[in-house]
Amino acid sequence: MTRLFYPYDITRESEMEQPLDFNRRSRLKHVDRAFKSEIINIIQLTDMEKLFQVRILDDADRARFSFLPGQFVMVEVPGYGEIPISISSSPSHRGYIELCIRRAGVVTSILHKAKRGAHVGLRGPFGTHFPIGKMQGNHILLIAGGLGLAPLRAPIFDVIENRSNFKEVHILYGTRQPSMLLFNYQYEEWNRIADINLQVIVEEGDASWTGPVGMITQLLDEVAIEPLETYAIICGPPVMFKFVCAHLQNEGIPMDRMFVSLERRMHCGMGKCCRCNIGSTYTCLSGPVFDYWTVMNLKEAI
Ligand SMILES: Cc1cc2nc3c(=O)[nH]c(=O)nc-3n(C[C@H](O)[C@H](O)[C@H](O)COP(=O)(O)OP(=O)(O)OC[C@H]3O[C@@H](n4cnc5c(N)ncnc54)[C@H](O)[C@@H]3O)c2cc1C
Ligand code: FES
Repeated sequence: MTRLFYPYDITRESEMEQPLDFNRRSRLKHVDRAFKSEIINIIQLTDMEKLFQVRILDDADRARFSFLPGQFVMVEVPGYGEIPISISSSPSHRGYIELCIRRAGVVTSILHKAKRGAHVGLRGPFGTHFPIGKMQGNHILLIAGGLGLAPLRAPIFDVIENRSNFKEVHILYGTRQPSMLLFNYQYEEWNRIADINLQVIVEEGDASWTGPVGMITQLLDEVAIEPLETYAIICGPPVMFKFVCAHLQNEGIPMDRMFVSLERRMHCGMGKCCRCNIGSTYTCLSGPVFDYWTVMNLKEAI
């Protein structure tokens, strides 16, 4: 039978306190199905999130690797564990992928201590994607809350790079506080692109904040929506899906024109371990990207 679980002990708390030797190449020889990869750059985005640029070491594997917006990889930190992370870079960009990772627990904390040159394993890409092709010729709403901008960034790049294929494009992003905004160095660049409406809102402003304050649905009030000519991609916490999708439904957008990305705990990423299921649906295989109609028919999906 195929080995399903990561074979190392991931609970060695004491070792986490030691200076990290991330270049433990010897351990990587056990990683049979992962691409051996190197973290080539790390950008601190906020107190909690870092952007990792990760390069597959083998030239042939790197050239073959491709993904679609919305897909994720399993990132393995040798000796600690493996976690699902959405690919946050442009699907057309070859050479390395970008992963925006929030410090949440064991594996993500170890990654946050990693230095440039550290080695990780990458498996994937896995999962369903946002059907950007079918959205061509329509207005596009790209909506993210908090860390949701990480998975939304790949479709944003895809839409921007193929701007002429779409009608109006709106990027709407909300977080709790200005200090939590991800990729704020990129907003100016996105804003400069003709015909893209980028709006950012925070729930609580501070002295530096001059933009709007409130919930993300407030930004939707300012968008004139043509429901049967619009597709929406929504990434963020489940509570945000409920409010945003209800708002879009009220505007008349059919549920199968709204796409969300659902997160569940995952171990294998390939339908073997039964960790990610919602009823009989495996999120890693049938998701993480679902249309809203499907989500509403999955019991307790959000
Ligand atoms: C398809 C998919 C894509 C994801 N993309 C990203 C991404 O782009 N960036 C990012 O920072 N995170 C992403 N996540 C969440 C990320 O996988 C978890 O934060 C990570 O697995 C936590 O691992 P850990 O060992 O650090 O935490 P653990 O020590 O395992 O747990 C710490 C805390 O995080 C919670 N947690 C663990 N796994 C998940 C999960 N899957 N969803 C929600 N909470 C979880 C636990 O309940 C616990 O409270 C994604 C998850 C999925 C399923
Ligand atoms: S993560 Fe193992 S079945 Fe989905």
